[in-house]
Amino acid sequence: MPSQIVSLVVNGEPREFIARPGVTLLAVLREALGLTAAKRGCAQGSCGTCTVLVDDRPAPACLIAVETVADCSVRTLEGVAVGGNLDEVQSSFVDNFATQCGFCTAGMIMVAEALLDRDPDPSEEDVAEAISGNVCRCTGYRPIMIAILDAARRRRGESVEGIEGTAPARPAEEAVSR
Ligand code: FES
Ligand code: FES
Repeated sequence: MPSQIVSLVVNGEPREFIARPGVTLLAVLREALGLTAAKRGCAQGSCGTCTVLVDDRPAPACLIAVETVADCSVRTLEGVAVGGNLDEVQSSFVDNFATQCGFCTAGMIMVAEALLDRDPDPSEEDVAEAISGNVCRCTGYRPIMIAILDAARRRRGESVEGIEGTAPARPAEEAVSR
């Protein structure tokens, strides 16, 4: 089958490229578009480190033939921060030490974004269920769960001071320079 022109909306921008049939969304994002936040881990749909949002739903980019999502909206970690400012989920991951080696972090954050977009007040069980397809070898998952619950409170405009297991939000520049 010949290569074909495929269109996607990536992080709000229309993108068009030539793709061989069967080439994965992950390969297109990383190699054609230079968006390398989504990582190639297992390449079998098991680890979640390649997770992006396709039409607002978490999806394993390593398993998706790009022509099957033509004209869809794709959101990656690169599209989360706005104007150089970390969003609530990103800043909460920093403040709650929810990332160590960082290999799982992009996937975890995209799963969290989707969860909080559909449920602004998730329970601990909801968070555990949401990240159940994402593997982290470093953190033991607890800091990630705390960070996502903390991010939910930040999005709801609730103070995080005095809540056990949370850290106060810090400006993005300070957060990233630490
Ligand atoms: S790299 Fe896609 S699920 Fe592991
Ligand atoms: S922080 Fe290392 S795999 Fe999650």
